[in-house]
Amino acid sequence: MKALVIQSGFGLDHLAFEERPGPVPGVNQVLVRVRAASLNYRDLLIAKGIYNPKLKMPRVLGSDGAGEVVAVGEGVTKFAPGDRVAGCFMQGWVSGPISDAAAKSTLGGDLDGVLAEQVVLREEGLVSIPDSLTFEEAATLPCAAVTAWNALTGAGCGPGKTVLLQGTGGVSIFALQFAKALGARVLIISGSDEKLTRAFAMGAAAGTNYRTNPAWDKWVRELTDGVGVDIVIEVGGAGTLDNSVKAVRIGGHVALIGVLSGVGTFNPISVLMKAVRLQGVFVGSRTMFEDMNRLITGESIKPVIDRVFPFADTPAAFHHLESGAHFGKVVVKM
Ligand SMILES: NC(=O)c1ccc[n+]([C@@H]2O[C@H](COP(=O)([O-])OP(=O)(O)OC[C@H]3O[C@@H](n4cnc5c(N)ncnc54)[C@H](OP(=O)(O)O)[C@@H]3O)[C@@H](O)[C@H]2O)c1
Repeated sequence: MKALVIQSGFGLDHLAFEERPGPVPGVNQVLVRVRAASLNYRDLLIAKGIYNPKLKMPRVLGSDGAGEVVAVGEGVTKFAPGDRVAGCFMQGWVSGPISDAAAKSTLGGDLDGVLAEQVVLREEGLVSIPDSLTFEEAATLPCAAVTAWNALTGAGCGPGKTVLLQGTGGVSIFALQFAKALGARVLIISGSDEKLTRAFAMGAAAGTNYRTNPAWDKWVRELTDGVGVDIVIEVGGAGTLDNSVKAVRIGGHVALIGVLSGVGTFNPISVLMKAVRLQGVFVGSRTMFEDMNRLITGESIKPVIDRVFPFADTPAAFHHLESGAHFGKVVVKM
């Protein structure tokens, strides 16, 4: 079977297809025929050697995949051949607080990932996918959607709350859909006016372009009667954090998720003067994934797919993600 690996060096030029023997499920393991996978910004960081410069190679990339169960190993009770499933980003985080062991069980990083025709996953690291979703749609969920869900629910998102989103990539567009479903008001910034228009059509109340309006924190305060938003879904990192803390209300919540803007300076004084809660988010547990799937089913939420590439064109899918031209998720179909 074919797998997409990073081998013999970092950089998108070192993405390659490898022929590997078909994997066999061991005790408490499940063999899954991957039908679709989705890419995350993390996959770019891993391929470029920024995420983990000590990554063991060759490594099969990709944390997010969905498919059907082909066979189960001894001791497996929850799944049977034919079941439609997705892998959890962390194979070892079932529920409760994150542990060191869970954080070191990530697909496409610590462990071989899902950009392969077949994968063996742990029974405890699998979820059933909603009947309402195609394999392509379900393949968008494990990282970006669970992260958005964990960040919003961990921040107490609900009716009466205002949430600020940054950009229109995977995490932010899921956060838009979930925040709306939870009853919150959404403000959004993007580097593209056209993408802002699409976000309005999805229910964002207002938006501004962070390229033409770099002082977007002022815009946020104006729109919130000088108060600031309750929650910021912070995917920009060092280059946006200063503005995010200025844009959040006193006692508000900033969910620290991403590093899109690269380096920057950050002054912590306003964090303490405003008693802001800065909460790091690392994807989420299987229980969070299952809770989120219930909302997706109940609210008939459809993941927003920007483009689907055939498996053979996975390197082109990486370049498309790198371009930042996408809105929502970039998917690969096996
Ligand atoms: N902590 C975690 O567990 C976790 C989980 C998932 C993702 N992440 C991180 O979260 C970030 C987003 O991931 P993703 O997969 O959603 O990425 P993505 O799909 O590649 O989204 C990238 C989008 O972000 C926007 N963007 C780029 N630079 C920006 C800036 N300076 N300010 C505001 N928006 C900016 C752009 O949208 P516009 O064109 O609309 O401006 C761009 O298209 C990445 O840093 C990723 O590593 C972390």
